[in-house]
Amino acid sequence: MIISSTTDYRAAAQKRLPPFLFHYIDGGAYAEKTLAHNVSDLSEVALRQRVLKDMSQLDTSIELFGEKLSMPVALAPVGLTGMFARRGEVQAAMAADKKGIPFTMSSVSVCAIEEVAPRIQRPMWFQLYVLKDRGFLKNALERAQAAGVTTLVFTVDMPVPGARYRDAHSGMSGPNAAMRRYLQSMTHPHWAMDVGLMGRPHTLGNISTYMGKNVSLEDYMGYLGANFDPSISWRDLEWIRDFWKGPMVIKGILDPEDAKDAVRFGADGIIVSNHGGRQLDGVLSSARALPAIADAVKGQIKILADSGIRNGLDIVRMLALGADCTMIGRAFIYALAAQGGAGVSHLLDLLEKEMRVAMTLTSVKSVSEITGNLLVQSR
Ligand code: GLV
Repeated sequence: MIISSTTDYRAAAQKRLPPFLFHYIDGGAYAEKTLAHNVSDLSEVALRQRVLKDMSQLDTSIELFGEKLSMPVALAPVGLTGMFARRGEVQAAMAADKKGIPFTMSSVSVCAIEEVAPRIQRPMWFQLYVLKDRGFLKNALERAQAAGVTTLVFTVDMPVPGARYRDAHSGMSGPNAAMRRYLQSMTHPHWAMDVGLMGRPHTLGNISTYMGKNVSLEDYMGYLGANFDPSISWRDLEWIRDFWKGPMVIKGILDPEDAKDAVRFGADGIIVSNHGGRQLDGVLSSARALPAIADAVKGQIKILADSGIRNGLDIVRMLALGADCTMIGRAFIYALAAQGGAGVSHLLDLLEKEMRVAMTLTSVKSVSEITGNLLVQSR
């Protein structure tokens, strides 16, 4: 199978993964409209082509939160990354490290912080939800600090989990889920051997370490459902702002007013995101939400954006719409599932190559030159 794009990696991942995992990563909420619009709206963003400006020297690197990134991309936090490839968080983090970009560990990862941090050179980023279990939050913050985590990503668009119909059908949740997952792994022997058998233990590493007992995949949806806190407000983040000395980034901003609140709160960054279309279906795609947010807060706070990025051209489009940096989630998980860390490395190289093509054909030599000036009305 020839693999030259995220689309190819997606097809390869679908072959290899048991359906409960493929649909968990591939799916979105309700009718999956926002999921689709994330990709289609971004693909409609037209750039001004410019030529004959000696583009032999291009620089894709940026500085962000005191770190140098080889390109304006970070791996987004994805729950259960270690179910998509053997000890998947370690493999993905090492690939990001090799490329010179940050890996963001999800708090609901398979590997614990302590398993991943010693394997990489760069400081890791770490994601948290505001969970009811404040003891876990404090414990996770202390452990993240001890492991040298620099940037803390707070996901705020999940006070309740979205309705994901595919999960109930695929065996991720729903009746007889464990039995259905077991049967699916029988028909996906490569995954069953590599991850099902050799990738154990399949626990929520960070939560298990805190609880002092294994918290299994079986408990994943249950734990999340029981622990998301619908009462959260900016006030709940204040003690964390006081506690955490490094950069703090708020993930899940889709409205300019919330972006302004994030500035008032003293956040270092926001991530414009609709959680990959996995939460409230029908909300704006990131590509459509971003320009108004950039108008409101650009320059006062770092703006990252995710949801819909599938290639290097999309990265340039997000920056032209107002982002300072981007994040990719599904794209790297498809690559990880298909070919492990080598797949993620290959995908990141593809993204960089495509970014260079886009920069060459729009005649921008550095990332700071990628602005709204590159945009053109196509119809
Ligand atoms: C968790 O953040 C999910 O989207 O499943």
